[in-house]
Order: sequence, then structure tokens, then C-alpha cells
Amino acid sequence: MTAERARITVFDTTLRDGEQSPGCSMNQQEKLRLAHQLDRLGVDVIEAGFPIASDGDFESVRAIASVVRRPVIAGLARACRPDIERAWEALRDAARPRIHVFLATSDIHLKYKLRITRDQCVEQAREAIHFAKSLCDDVEFSPEDATRTDPDFLCRVLEAVVEAGATTLNIPDTVGYTVPTEFGDLITTIRQRVKGIENVTISAHCHNDLGMAVANALAAVSAGARQVECTINGIGERAGNASLEEIVMAMRVRPDRFAYETGIVGDQIFAASQMLSEITGVPVQPNKAIIGRNAFAHEAGIHQDGVLKNPLTYEIMTPQSVGVPDSKLVLGKHSGRHALSIRCEQLGYQFDRRGLDDIYRRFVRLADKIKHVEDHHLLELIRDTHKPSGSATPLIEPIAPAKAAVVNAPPPVSEPEPEPMKAFPVGPQTNAFGVPLPVHGDSHHEQTQQEDYLWGV
Ligand code: KIV
Ligand code: ZN
Repeated sequence: MTAERARITVFDTTLRDGEQSPGCSMNQQEKLRLAHQLDRLGVDVIEAGFPIASDGDFESVRAIASVVRRPVIAGLARACRPDIERAWEALRDAARPRIHVFLATSDIHLKYKLRITRDQCVEQAREAIHFAKSLCDDVEFSPEDATRTDPDFLCRVLEAVVEAGATTLNIPDTVGYTVPTEFGDLITTIRQRVKGIENVTISAHCHNDLGMAVANALAAVSAGARQVECTINGIGERAGNASLEEIVMAMRVRPDRFAYETGIVGDQIFAASQMLSEITGVPVQPNKAIIGRNAFAHEAGIHQDGVLKNPLTYEIMTPQSVGVPDSKLVLGKHSGRHALSIRCEQLGYQFDRRGLDDIYRRFVRLADKIKHVEDHHLLELIRDTHKPSGSATPLIEPIAPAKAAVVNAPPPVSEPEPEPMKAFPVGPQTNAFGVPLPVHGDSHHEQTQQEDYLWGV
């Protein structure tokens, strides 16, 4: 029996908060391209920009609003008429427009930045939402720096904006200061104390200054938030925003802990990440969860051996489930004979035990020197080690160096049969030249089980 899962709205702010990160600004054409990809990815809301900030931002929001029709398109505005009017002008042609109004509520911001009193803050927020509501049905309010705001005062402001017509209350951890238990408690307090809260959606907007943005967002969801604000690759002000791919995959891989669903199309995640990186020129850190270059790469021999026998040993989700073409076995000094023999097979060579030992010894010496052994190194090594009279048996005549090592092959015949386990999908196995590799009959690689792309789901 599967329990009903609550639906979480994914609000993507890559084009607004994400764009505010140094080196990540985008022009209109680039924003449009990314907006189309966000649409394919299945996000529910695209925050397309901050229309009053510049003419370029205004035009980008307007262009996205007029052509991207499925998701809600949001535009940001400070809590004042000129901003709200400008946002509405940019959004008015959208199929589903949303005005997102923010006003700081913490004493630090009121005293040093806005120079207004708490009472003035409540009135300004109320008036701004009232005005936004006169233009647009869908109005979101964010009390900036909420996590450093006195909770009593925060509830007072929130109640005023609900009364004025806000439909989403977004709780920003603007400076990435909170921790998961505290943030969860804050959401609970808001749910218990704000009158009318049952008629609005609570949202979480977390920054990553202490590296806890995703954990905080998930804690908020567990406490009753039903919208998460996030960005592709976690880009955003300073240390960034909560990363969309991490939040979504945490829910998919651990439904036992996070029994929620989103509309995200998993296999579009990697494409979105790559596109953003290509547009901004900002690379993704190699060890970034879900979409980093190393997220599905294995170098240690023990890990490679395990993954070759069954990917479940060291992978908690399939690469395909997030749109990454395949797992990678990186051949380096930590690699073992198993991965080396598979790669050699893919390059068109099969070795007996002694032949493999020979090549393995030389491979380890080389890997010590050059760190990563590429296919062309390996081919050279094979030819050098096994001149015509050697023990290598070419499976086919190699004609050109192979593409980068992408290995997810079934174990060789001599391996013991793995215990039957739930399957990961594995594409048709070919060697580096496109020639199908023999299928060894271990049931965990069979096509019929490929729908189960995440174990436990
Ligand atoms: O971090 C923040 O407080 C924001 C608001 C404008 C929502 O980005
Ligand atoms: Zn933010």
C-alpha cells in the first residue's frame, strides 16, 4: 500500500536570485533559452526576474511571460507602487502571472537599511499587498531576513498580508543563518499562530551560507511548507540558494523520510544544469551532488568492482534518473583488475589471467605517473605489452581510439553470479566501437526491470 504523497510546488529562481550571483548574469536570449528548459524540467513557477532593476530585466520577464505558457511566471518587486506597477507591466501578458513582493522584517534591516519602525513595516507590507492584489490574483509575500526576525513580529506581519490578499507566504532565510530544526519550528509556529494561514501556501527560500540550504528547505517541507524556492546548480547570492536537483532527488531517493512529490521531470535535470553552466560560463564543482562530474564516477577498485557487479552497491540513484548518460569508471591508480578488464574488452581486447596481470602491473605504474589513464594510453599499453605473439585476443580489429570511458557493463562470465536484486536500467552494452558485448545472463541487468529506476521508489 502506498501512502498519498503531498505535492510540493517547485519555484525556480535561477533567473532572478540565481542571476544575482557573481558571474551569472544572463541576457534576454539566454534567459529565454533557460526558461524553455525550466519548462521542460517541469518546474511549477519560474521567477523570471526583477523588472524594476533594469530595462533588460524588464524585457526578459516580458518575453518569458509571453512565450512560456505552462508554468506560473513570477516577477519580483519591493513593497512600493513603482516596483509593483513595473512588475505587473512585465507580467500582464503571462498565462499565469504572479507578483512577488518583499519587505525586510528583521530589526537589523528595519533599523540600518530601511530606517522604519515595526509599525511602519506592517503598514507598508499591508498596503503593498493590497495594491498588488488589485492587479493580480496570485500574490506572494516575502518577509526578507525572516529567520532573524522576532517570531511574534513576523507572525504579525504575515497576518496583515494574508488579510490583504497574499496567496503565498514565502519565508526567506536570506542570510543562510538558520539550522534545520530551528527552521522547521519556525514554520510550525507560523502555521499555529497566523490567522488565515490555512488558506495560503507556505514557502521556504533558503540560502547556503552555512551549507544547510537544502536541509533547511527539507525541514520546512516536513513542517508543512508546500513550496520550495530553489535554483539549478544551487547558484545564487553569495554561497547560493538551495539546489533544485538536491531537494527533488532527496525526495525521490528517500520517500520514506520525505513522502512528497514534485512535477520535476528527472531526466531533464542534467540538461538544465549543463545549459546553465554553458550560458554563464560558471562550471559545476566536480563533486557537486547529483550533477557534478564525479557524482556517478568511481575510481577506487573496490567500488568499481562493486558497481560492475551491481550498481546498487555504490549508487543510490541511477545516472539515467537525472539525465546523466551513464556511470563512469575512471581508470586511475585506485582502480582494480575488474574495471581494467572491462575497459579493455570495450576497447576490443580480452585477456587471460596472466595477460591481464601483465597489463595491470604496467597500468598501475602509468596511473601513478599520469593520474588518469585515457583510452589512448590504454591502447598503447596493450599494444606495447602484447606485441603480435602476446596473449591478447582481439575481439575485433580496433580502428580508432574510443570515446571517454563510460562503463556500466555486465560482469565477465568468470564472475560469480550476483544475488538477485532490484534492477537499475542499463542500456544495450556495446564495446567502444559500437559492437554489442556478450550478455552474461545475470537477471539484475535485464531490460524488463528497467522501469524501477530508483530502488525504494
Ligand atoms: O533571500 C531573500 O530574502 C530573497 C527575497 C527577495 C525573497 O531573495
Ligand atoms: Zn534569496
